[in-house]
Amino acid sequence: MNLKKNKKTIENSELATVKQLFPENTGELLVEEMYKFIELEHLYESAIREVKTKLEILDSEFRTKYSYNPIHHIEDRLKSPQSIFEKLHRKGKAFSVESAKKNLYDIAGVRVICNYIDDIYTVADLLTAQDDVKLVKRKDYISFPKTNGYRSLHLVIQTPVYLSDNKEEVYVEVQIRTIAMDFWASLEHELKYKADTNVSSELADRLKACAETIAATDAEMQEIYKTLKELN
Ligand code: GTP
Ligand code: MG
Repeated sequence: MNLKKNKKTIENSELATVKQLFPENTGELLVEEMYKFIELEHLYESAIREVKTKLEILDSEFRTKYSYNPIHHIEDRLKSPQSIFEKLHRKGKAFSVESAKKNLYDIAGVRVICNYIDDIYTVADLLTAQDDVKLVKRKDYISFPKTNGYRSLHLVIQTPVYLSDNKEEVYVEVQIRTIAMDFWASLEHELKYKADTNVSSELADRLKACAETIAATDAEMQEIYKTLKELN
């Protein structure tokens, strides 16, 4: 049997996870806190919508002014309650909604796929220049790729969500990358999770070589685009 409130339910599997990871939490209080996690979903869904709208407006402005779209498409994801509980536990943080809001930056995730490398920085700069967007963290894995070859620009921003009786500043993780970087990251992610054991060092080297090839192609496509633009 699942516990029902406002049509949403607490899954038994989620309750079991919390009981196992945070055995000090018991009874009524635990269930009450679980309901608050359900409300949390609405808050982070709203934050995702706010950020996506900002990005869509920037993109359409470019379309209107320069007949050009810096953004190819946008994806988003909301971290599942199960993953939130596991991450809180992994980081040694308390099991509570307040703790999740304060300690986790990636409950709301927005991924922006751009056409060219320069678009990534244009989008990042324009987004973070907005009055109500606060930049909390910036990791440039394009200028400094990860050792496995991973490239993307990662931002953690804080943006306000207006609710009926208050305003909340909400963290959103924004990953910005080109179509080519996304192609590599998607397949690498799939391969990593498909492989039962760790990927051998030979395969890791080959994957990294693919990342370098893709990076060179990205740079060349950017150059071709610039050259054509100058001619027109
Ligand atoms: P997390 O606690 O995992 O969020 O770590 P972190 O705070 O060090 O975050 P980081 O900015 O390094 O990475 C966060 C997210 O970027 C991950 O959840 C992935 O979506 C993506 N990412 C980071 N590294 C890789 C990688 O090597 N391969 C792929 N495919 N994705 C990656
Ligand atoms: Mg993460």
